[in-house]
Formats: sequence, C-alpha cells, structure tokens
Amino acid sequence: MADDDAELQWLTQLSREQLHARAQHYFKAGGATEPEVALVAHGAARAIFKDYARTPGWFGRVIAPVLIWREASALTRLAGLVGIPRIHRQIDARGLLIEYLPATPWPRADVPEAAYQRLTALVAAMHERGVAHCDLRAPSNILVDANGTPYIVDFVARVHRGRRWNLPWNWLFRQFVAADDSALAKLRVRFAPGLADAADRACLEYRGPAERLARTIGEWARNVVRFFVRSS
Ligand SMILES: Nc1ncnc2c1ncn2[C@@H]1O[C@H](COP(=O)(O)OP(=O)(O)O)[C@@H](O)[C@H]1O
Ligand SMILES: [Mg+2]
Repeated sequence: MADDDAELQWLTQLSREQLHARAQHYFKAGGATEPEVALVAHGAARAIFKDYARTPGWFGRVIAPVLIWREASALTRLAGLVGIPRIHRQIDARGLLIEYLPATPWPRADVPEAAYQRLTALVAAMHERGVAHCDLRAPSNILVDANGTPYIVDFVARVHRGRRWNLPWNWLFRQFVAADDSALAKLRVRFAPGLADAADRACLEYRGPAERLARTIGEWARNVVRFFVRSS
C-alpha cells in the first residue's frame, strides 16, 4: 500500500509531457472543442489526465481554462463524497490530474439493480452539496464498478447553487437539479425498464420546463462555441 502511495506521489509530480508519455490509453483523443482524456500509469498507480493544452485556437486559449476551472471547482466542492473522483493536481489552467476510477461506463457495464438506488443517492448528495451536473444525459459520464458502486465524472457543464439571497439563480439551479433527476429516469427506462415507474416513462414523453431550459442553454452554448471555433 505504501509503495502504491509512493508511485501515485511520483506520478502526480510529472510534467505535462511526461504525463502524456505515460499514457496507457486515451478515452478521448481531443479535438477542436474537446480535451484529451488519458489514463496515465506508473507501477500500480493510475490517474486520469484531462488536458486541453493541445486544443487549438481560441477555444484552447480562452474557453478551455474556464472549463477546467468549472470542473476543478465542482470536484473541490464535492471532495470526500464517495463516487466523485478526487483531484490529484491541477497542472495548470488547461490540465487536471484526477483520481482514476476502476469502473465502466453505465451502458457497457453489467449493472446490478442495487446500483440504481445508490446512484440516485449519490446524485441527491451531490445536489445537497450545491452542484447540479447538467450532463447526466450522456451515460458515459456515469460509471459503475464490479461491486455496483456508482461514480460520476465530467463536471464541465455543472451549475452551482447560488447564495441564499440569489433567488433567480437558485430557481435556475433547481431547474438543473430537476434535469439531472429526469436524466436518471431516462437511464432507468433505457437500461433497467423493470425499475422504471410510470413517472419515469412520462418523463421521456414530456419535456418539462427544466429540460427545455437546459436544452436551450445547451444549444446556445454549442452555437457560441461553434462561432468561436470557426472564427479562431
Ligand atoms: N476519473 C475517471 N476514472 C475512470 N475513467 C474516467 C474518469 N474520467 C473520465 N473517464 C473516462 O473518460 C471518458 C471521457 O471523460 P469525460 O470527463 O467525460 O470527458 P469529456 O468532457 O470530453 O466528455 C469518460 O466517459 C470515462 O469513460
Ligand atoms: Mg463526458
């Protein structure tokens, strides 16, 4: 165990170039608006390196640091919650080294029924801490391990709860919380129809204000990004 800790310590000190040299696998190869997501290893130690340094143009220079900040600040707010990866080190404004979760994305895993309840509890605990994920519709952001423990990754789209007096912001926050919950309903309908109830199925047919709002903001954000990518 002490050896593993030492290996992880060693891995955590590496530079960007050294981390890429130790990549065993890229979950994402990177692109005009996407990071590279690498599994890096040293001995028995593993970590995930999310890096926008090679993302070109305006997006890489201006948007990427905002996204890394968004992810890092959410992970900090959620620190200590089982099911959320911890931050090993923020390399710089464009790179983040986080805990590797030995787990599989939900759609590819053999998910035990009990994991659905545990995931619901994890999402509730996340909301309790004041973080709405806002991208749980992408089931690749939800992982599960061999024991049925669920995990959540990819916090770039998150929305934090505002201060107590900020009523409009907190109304918005509640809409995103509802959108997370409806993403879980969709997950049940798709992957565990036996666990889905009538309300879950109704969620799929009916797009509530939360979801419409989340979609509108999502589409707006995508258009802004496309605009800047084209003009960079
Ligand atoms: N901490 C982690 N542990 C294990 N796998 C991870 C971790 N973070 C990300 N991944 C894998 O990498 C994929 C892409 O990472 P993600 O953070 O979702 O990037 P993006 O923002 O580009 O969608 C995930 O779907 C998951 O398979
Ligand atoms: Mg993702």
